[in-house]
Amino acid sequence: MARKKLALIGGGQIGGVLAQIIASKQLGDVVMFDVVEDLPQGKTLDIAEASRISGFDAKVTGTNDYKDIAGSDIVIITAGIPRKPGMSRDDLLITNANIMKSVAEGVKKYAPNSIVIIISNPLDAMVTLFQKVSGFPTNKVMGQAGMLDSSRFSSFIAWELGVSVKDVNAMVLGGHGDTMVPLVRYANVNGVPVMEMLERKYKDKTKAEKVMKAMVDRTKQAGGEVVKLLKTGSAFFSPAASAVAMAQSILDDEKRVIATCCYLNGEYGVKNYYLGVPAILGEKGVEKVIELSLDKDEQAALDNSIKAVKNLTKEMANLGF
Ligand code: APR
Repeated sequence: MARKKLALIGGGQIGGVLAQIIASKQLGDVVMFDVVEDLPQGKTLDIAEASRISGFDAKVTGTNDYKDIAGSDIVIITAGIPRKPGMSRDDLLITNANIMKSVAEGVKKYAPNSIVIIISNPLDAMVTLFQKVSGFPTNKVMGQAGMLDSSRFSSFIAWELGVSVKDVNAMVLGGHGDTMVPLVRYANVNGVPVMEMLERKYKDKTKAEKVMKAMVDRTKQAGGEVVKLLKTGSAFFSPAASAVAMAQSILDDEKRVIATCCYLNGEYGVKNYYLGVPAILGEKGVEKVIELSLDKDEQAALDNSIKAVKNLTKEMANLGF
């Protein structure tokens, strides 16, 4: 059986880690595209030369020509500029929208049957734009954000409780910005509600709530926390790992339930917009959106996030995209 093929559009920080993880997991052959001459060739050569040590036979190559992505099963897009300290994801809108438009045209022409995972920010707007320009079926165009936001939330919970992060299940819904909605009520450690464990730890409900609020706030600001420390760019290990998990669920038809930026057709009361919600990812891409029952406060927080995503999408349309 021929190996699967994954195209990476953007060979910067995230692109490099993506190539490395995909190759070491032998998910498929990797072609990295970038507009900067020699950059993707150099980066992939470096990764490929570690193949003996890491033990992979997958091919890892770089290109400046879209035609080399032909036949890709999955395309992961990181093309665009990342944030600098003090910038919000939305500040990247015009620059990255111009880039995304050209990327969508290239992918449409050379990998028309691929399933596309977008990482470039502002995420919800970039996914919307890619789908609009490419005309790809909506189930085959999605964004990576919720997987990472949920991983960050789960990590903070595990560190706070002193338990293995493998046993923590916590989900973040909504747009990939300050309005995202970490779902406290659903967060659990192997089925035990996290709030219950916090109350047991602190023997004080108010203190437990305060600790949870701090973790929720940190989750919302987690990307910015990394930007502030790095000073020269934004997070790249964790977004890459998250997108690989999504790609693997699709390639291996795992049908994992992953918080994904996907197209809504009435679910959660939203029609014709992309938003982060739990979805089953399998060989067809986004196979099913899972609708959670939300209480009044959770729904209000999600409505607020939907409003922000709609505003950003409208702003992009007003700019002519
Ligand atoms: N086509 C392909 N690649 C492009 C294009 C284009 N039109 N324009 C820019 N690029 C490339 C750059 O040359 C660079 O190598 O995109 C790459 C982006 O890499 P980095 O600047 O290192 O950014 P990275 O940290 O990888 O983040 C990429 O993901 O999380 C988001 O906010 C982040 O939007 C940013 C994106």
